[in-house]
Amino acid sequence: MKYRIMMLSVTMLASSTAAAGDPDSDEVARRGAELLQPFQQALQTALREGMKEGPANAVEVCRLEAPEIAARVAPEDVAMGRTSHRLRNPDNAPLDWQREMLEYYLDNPDDRQPRQTRLDETRVAHVQPIETQPMCLSCHGSDLDESVQARLDELYPEDRATGFAAGELRGIFWVTMPDE
Ligand code: HEC
Repeated sequence: MKYRIMMLSVTMLASSTAAAGDPDSDEVARRGAELLQPFQQALQTALREGMKEGPANAVEVCRLEAPEIAARVAPEDVAMGRTSHRLRNPDNAPLDWQREMLEYYLDNPDDRQPRQTRLDETRVAHVQPIETQPMCLSCHGSDLDESVQARLDELYPEDRATGFAAGELRGIFWVTMPDE
């Protein structure tokens, strides 16, 4: 109990002192969620379509389409993508601020709420945790089909994104935007 009260006052202190430089979290959260929505939607559709021809085929879809979709749906002056603490593609490696977000979620497994931060005077960021779902396990789980594993070995020799369980944090969606 004592601990909880202490935590609460630390949080209150942090929000009142940091107010000057902090983004308007509600506003950034609203814009961030709106910007990420078409990215998430298109990824899901591409994955579902690709899976119709089996997960080994869908590996290729994920590899080629994820960056292409991010570039297509992001308005000018907005960037978005996915990153993780256990990467498949090293091109998705987290920047420092993204690593801090990942660490926050790993340290606080009960908090799966989106978070916002300020990057500099003109830019703010929004992130959403990505939870591993059962349908992700054919490519990110522990018991992969041989054909999937072979495809992954070929394309991602440094793959660290297997061995996830359903419900586990897989990574984050991130978006950066101008501070309006
Ligand atoms: C058909 C296989 C397949 C399935 C199913 C799949 N993924 Fe992936 N995933 C991949 C591949 C391939 C990449 C690497 C994409 C790239 O090269 O950018 C990847 C990359 C990622 C990344 C980016 C970070 C990294 O490690 O490079 C995240 C996050 C991710 N997947 C989450 C998920 C989630 C969540 C699901 C379930 C909803 C899922 N994936 C289902 C194959 C798959």
